[in-house]
Amino acid sequence: MTATSFVIPGLTRYPVKRNVAAGDTLFTVFLLLILLSASATVGANEILARQNYILNCQGCHLPDGSGSEGNVPKMNDFVGYFLHVPGGREFIVQVPGAAGAPISDQELADVMNWMLLNFSKNELPDPFVPYNAEEIAKLRKEPLIDMHHRREELVARIKDKLGATEY
Ligand code: HEC
Repeated sequence: MTATSFVIPGLTRYPVKRNVAAGDTLFTVFLLLILLSASATVGANEILARQNYILNCQGCHLPDGSGSEGNVPKMNDFVGYFLHVPGGREFIVQVPGAAGAPISDQELADVMNWMLLNFSKNELPDPFVPYNAEEIAKLRKEPLIDMHHRREELVARIKDKLGATEY
């Protein structure tokens, strides 16, 4: 009796264990596949956005977004503030270098989102609403009138609202 009762649990435990192990493996593979496909999508978008920044923006704005004082505004640690004030969200897309870049609306949306998150994450409003192709398409059609004056206005609004200044 005792011998049998030792054997039976042993025998039953073995396949049960194997099933659990097989189930675990399948589940792990399943999870890995989900993770891989998710990271592949995010990764591809990010890589493409970064490439488009390098090709279309970096020549003037430099790899870290620091620009050159007096000529190209510094975007790092600042550009995100524009999204806090009325007109700012539109302005940063409508500047000639962005609106006129030879890339699609979706690609420009991805570059803008990549740029904001990479250069100015801490200055973004919470929640940050990313640009999409539709919004970019609409903004690109509206001309930006009196850009320099417009920018001064926006920077003044940023200072009034958030106490933040450039440089
Ligand atoms: C030929 C140089 C040049 C290129 C290329 C360029 N920019 Fe600019 N960018 C500027 C200059 C100069 C300004 C300041 C406004 C102006 O005089 O156009 C500016 C302003 C901006 C601003 C507003 C920042 C602020 O603080 O006012 C953003 C955002 C911006 N550019 C994004 C981009 C993006 C995104 C690209 C690429 C898709 C790009 N730019 C390509 C030169 C460039």
